[in-house]
Amino acid sequence: MEDVKRVLAIDLGSGKIAAIVAEIGPQNEVRVLGVGRAKSTGIRGGRIVNIEKTAISVSEAAQQAYQMAKSEFDEVVVGITGEHIKGATSRGLIAISNPHLEITEDDVQRVIDQAKTISIPMGREVLYVHPNSYTIDDQRGIKEPIGMIGMRLEVEAYIVTAQSTVLMNIKRALSKGGVEDPILMFQPIAASAAVLRAQDMDQGVALVDIGKDTTDIAVWFDGDLVHTAVLPLGGQLITNDIAIGLKIPVEKAEELKLNYGVASVTLAEESDEENIEVEGFHGQRPKFFTRRDLAYIIEARVAEIFEFVKEKLEQSDRFSRLVGGVILVGGTSSLPGIEYVAEEVLGLPVFVRKPHGVTGVIDPIMDPAYAVVVGLPRLARMAQTKGGIERPGGKTSVKDFIQKIWNIVKENF
Ligand SMILES: Nc1ncnc2c1ncn2[C@@H]1O[C@H](COP(=O)(O)OP(=O)(O)OP(=O)(O)O)[C@@H](O)[C@H]1O
Ligand SMILES: [Mg+2]
Repeated sequence: MEDVKRVLAIDLGSGKIAAIVAEIGPQNEVRVLGVGRAKSTGIRGGRIVNIEKTAISVSEAAQQAYQMAKSEFDEVVVGITGEHIKGATSRGLIAISNPHLEITEDDVQRVIDQAKTISIPMGREVLYVHPNSYTIDDQRGIKEPIGMIGMRLEVEAYIVTAQSTVLMNIKRALSKGGVEDPILMFQPIAASAAVLRAQDMDQGVALVDIGKDTTDIAVWFDGDLVHTAVLPLGGQLITNDIAIGLKIPVEKAEELKLNYGVASVTLAEESDEENIEVEGFHGQRPKFFTRRDLAYIIEARVAEIFEFVKEKLEQSDRFSRLVGGVILVGGTSSLPGIEYVAEEVLGLPVFVRKPHGVTGVIDPIMDPAYAVVVGLPRLARMAQTKGGIERPGGKTSVKDFIQKIWNIVKENF
């Protein structure tokens, strides 16, 4: 069982912080041993706005997952997002130096490091490198170069960079929450690892994660990662629109959305026209709405979100060739009928997906909102075998971690 790794994965969302302790096997199968979740109150659009609050939520979620799993782990992987994260393609080229000209793991690491030496603006750093394909001498499109013979090794990679100060604040919040030496990963790539199959990536597909504050996009084509984007909008905008449109408090609007919301007016018209009673602002008489009133507001905003998504997808210039269509994840993708509205705007087939290939404690995480956290262990493993991530030097001491999160949880609850 040497090839099975145990990972603590944490998704830093703006609505929730999700954590799992999971085993990841050689075939990328994920066995979930523990799950935790906490409300996220210190993160806005992927940026930390309150270190203390974020630290508490991180400890709470991680501790729940750890307590359920009752198991140690080898590393911590954390999913982050935000408009500060940008991606671009890059190339690296090296000469093979060993006398047998056999390409080794070391050569692969060297050529990836070469690809990283693109000019990165001040204040930014490389978050992740996704090696798409290799060229050995003149032979292109090689996916597994190790063990092949050649004189020149070239890599075509997709490089994700992030603003250094944002990363520093994230690491500081994690550290205060008891999590040291995290491997940071970009959320839509992790979500892709949870819900996409190799066949989707080959055909061409766009992963769209609509959360609370952000909508994250990753486009795959010919098996390669070709484009990513982050939009500063998500389900909270829909809630705010309901609050304004119906003149009710935001918390009531959120409740209404979760309990009665549908993304398309047509769907609402098929359901009954019973009145929904909602308490107004303090001292006001209750208000009455139908599902259709609500659907009008939601549909308009959902359509608008997909207009922005379309704009981002068009930048990838493979937009019209995405045979696999668009795969939706994230909490907002639970809105009934959202795929119909999306198809209308995007003109592509749209599907809502849950994580696949997962065993163990699966009940709470078989939900599109958990795509990122389930994909994190898989991505960490893939990146490890392909050499694309920065591994922190120190090894997390599990004992210290547990002691620390206990203290934090005890102090705050
Ligand atoms: N059943 C549902 N119907 C409609 N909206 C829902 C439903 N469930 C969750 N949401 C919405 O999904 C959003 C939260 O989604 P998610 O948990 O994916 O966000 P997050 O990962 O915390 O945030 P982000 O990815 O933006 O940082 C909220 O706006 C919430 O209202
Ligand atoms: Mg999210």
